[in-house]
Amino acid sequence: MTKTKVLFVCLGNICRSPLAEAIFKAKISKRGLSHLVAADSCGTANYHVGDNPDHRTIANARKNGIEIDHVGQQLSLRHVVDYDFILAMDKSNFQNILRLNGTVGYANKISLMRSFDPDRDDDSVPDPYYGTERDFQNVFEILDRSVDLFIRHLEKEHLKV
Ligand code: 4NP
Repeated sequence: MTKTKVLFVCLGNICRSPLAEAIFKAKISKRGLSHLVAADSCGTANYHVGDNPDHRTIANARKNGIEIDHVGQQLSLRHVVDYDFILAMDKSNFQNILRLNGTVGYANKISLMRSFDPDRDDDSVPDPYYGTERDFQNVFEILDRSVDLFIRHLEKEHLKV
C-alpha cells in the first residue's frame, strides 16, 4: 500500500518546517500510523540546502521532547507533484510554492499550516529566525496544536481510521 505523503514547507527549511515534520512524525508514530503516512520538509529558498536545522530549533524541540533529524533541501516541482498534502508555514511560502513553474494545477494540495490551528490569531507561523527563545517556543506551541488538528483531519477525511 502506498503511503500518504505530507510535506511541510517554510523559507529556509532550518526552523519551522523541519520542526513541523519532526512533531508530525512523533505524533504519527505514537498513534501507530507510521506504516500509512510519510513526511518530509523543504524550503522555498536555497540558502540552507545541506544544512542541519538551526541549533535554536534543535534545542527548543529537545526541551519539548522532540528530536529533529533533517538535512535542508529546496522545494522543487517534483515535491509538489509527489506529495498528497503540502503545508505552508506562512502566506509568502504559500505564494512562492505557486510561483514555481508548473505548480498552479496542484493548488488544491496546498494549505496554510495555521488553517489547522484551533487558537489561530494569524494565518502564518511566525518566522523565528531573528527572534528569541520565546519566539521559538511560540512556534513550537503553534505547530504542536496545528499538527494535532491536521492529523485528526487526515485520520477522518483521508485515512478513514
Ligand atoms: P525557516 O526560518 O523558514 O523557518 O527555516 C528561516 C531560516 C533562515 C532564513 C530565514 C528564515 N534566512 O534568511 O536565512
